[in-house]
Amino acid sequence: MRKTGCFRIDKITKKRKAFASRPAVSYHGSQDEQLRYFIRHASASFALCSNFLLQSLITIYHYHQFLNQSLINMKRFFLPFALSALLIASATTFSACQQQTGSVNEQQQESAVTTDVPAETSTGDVAEEKSEAIAKKEAAQAAAEKAEAIYHKSCSSCHSLTPPAKSAPPIIAIAGQYRARYGKKSGAVADMVSFMKEPSIGKSVFGSKTFERFGIMPVMSLPDKELEMVSEWLWDQYDPNFEGDADCQ
Ligand code: HEC
Repeated sequence: MRKTGCFRIDKITKKRKAFASRPAVSYHGSQDEQLRYFIRHASASFALCSNFLLQSLITIYHYHQFLNQSLINMKRFFLPFALSALLIASATTFSACQQQTGSVNEQQQESAVTTDVPAETSTGDVAEEKSEAIAKKEAAQAAAEKAEAIYHKSCSSCHSLTPPAKSAPPIIAIAGQYRARYGKKSGAVADMVSFMKEPSIGKSVFGSKTFERFGIMPVMSLPDKELEMVSEWLWDQYDPNFEGDADCQ
């Protein structure tokens, strides 16, 4: 049993040494990654500290056994000894924990410098920003779902998503044309909205062949907000692997 105890202390010391001599990582990761990094190190510190406390208790237990077996009755010394050992162990653990947290903070500050995140970024801020990012993602997803519903209601009778085409170019082909023509989503969306309110050959991203084949699109009398949403969604349907063919334009 004693051996196991010693072995464990040995292992912990090794771990501590490995942790102390780990290479300094300058962190450029996303906030998600930074948070994961922080949690990993915080839990490592916690594991180390609680192990330390456990080892102290095991030592005290061994000492107790020893006293029981010995001929000299030193039992009356046991309680004060156990208490002071516990006190010392807690103090050491506490200072070890402080050091560990300190080194994590250093890492965080380092990352703050390299990623231009304000140095006072605390876990709370990271968590807040994380939930903000999640909220943004959810809002974007909700908008995409709403836009897709608009597509199914008002556009899908003429526009299929992918080839074969119905009575208009498939959405994926339109998205490809707009990506080829526009560098920015905002510009493309504005022109798509303008086209849908008042379709004309002059405004179109397609050539005359498309108009000969499909005719011109009727005016979409939807609220501006819906036209914008469906245009944004359309821009996002771009697939770089899609190559337009004769069936699309
Ligand atoms: C009645 C059939 C019909 C419906 C419904 C329809 N479209 Fe079209 N759309 C067309 C045709 C035909 C074309 C191709 C000729 C053209 O560009 O006008 C086209 C072209 C387009 C283009 C390409 C514009 C360009 O620059 O040439 C976009 C973008 C578009 N549609 C979006 C939509 C959206 C979004 C909806 C639903 C809100 C929709 N369309 C509903 C028939 C339709």
